[in-house]
Amino acid sequence: MGKQRARWKCLLISLALLAIFLVSVYQGPAAILPQATAQVQTPSATCIPGRVTPSVTEGPFYKSGSPQRASLVEPGMPGTKLVITGYVFSKSCRPVVGAWLDFWQADAQGTYDNAGYRLRGHQFTDGAARYTLETVMPGEYPGRTPHIHVKVMAPNRPVLTTQLYFAGAAQNQSDALFRPELLLQLHNAASGKSATFNFVLELE
Ligand SMILES: [Fe+2]
Repeated sequence: MGKQRARWKCLLISLALLAIFLVSVYQGPAAILPQATAQVQTPSATCIPGRVTPSVTEGPFYKSGSPQRASLVEPGMPGTKLVITGYVFSKSCRPVVGAWLDFWQADAQGTYDNAGYRLRGHQFTDGAARYTLETVMPGEYPGRTPHIHVKVMAPNRPVLTTQLYFAGAAQNQSDALFRPELLLQLHNAASGKSATFNFVLELE
């Protein structure tokens, strides 16, 4: 009788250990992957038909002819690193492959490079209509809440000119150009911040 009870106890402990193992494997990727990988924001391809991204004025600092590059970060550049990923859609939520995106912004001190192309660059969406921008958090400059400027254009279609803003920025509500539809929700990433944003263009 005693031997049988011991066998049952042994079996129950084994089952409990197996259950713990299976639960840890099931929860796996987030728990097992290195933290840096687990924290990267995966853009959601969610698109609401007809919800076109609003335009915002270009401002005085746009320069055409920016270099083609997905990363605007240069060695020694001060500021918090920021990675923005997302998609470009039409208003019927068709992915727009090869869409042109031209970003420009102030540096961490709130200064634009109007002589050269620092913190300016363009890129094209890939075969899945996705883009990735690596940059630094823009600083404030007088009269404006922090923002990133961007022009987005489907091949041979009109240009959308707009700006992206940062959730929680104290000056958002006092900035006349601020639009809540253009907010980036920041998440902590391994080397700074990350966010996602999908652009929806005025085309079918
Ligand atoms: Fe600006």
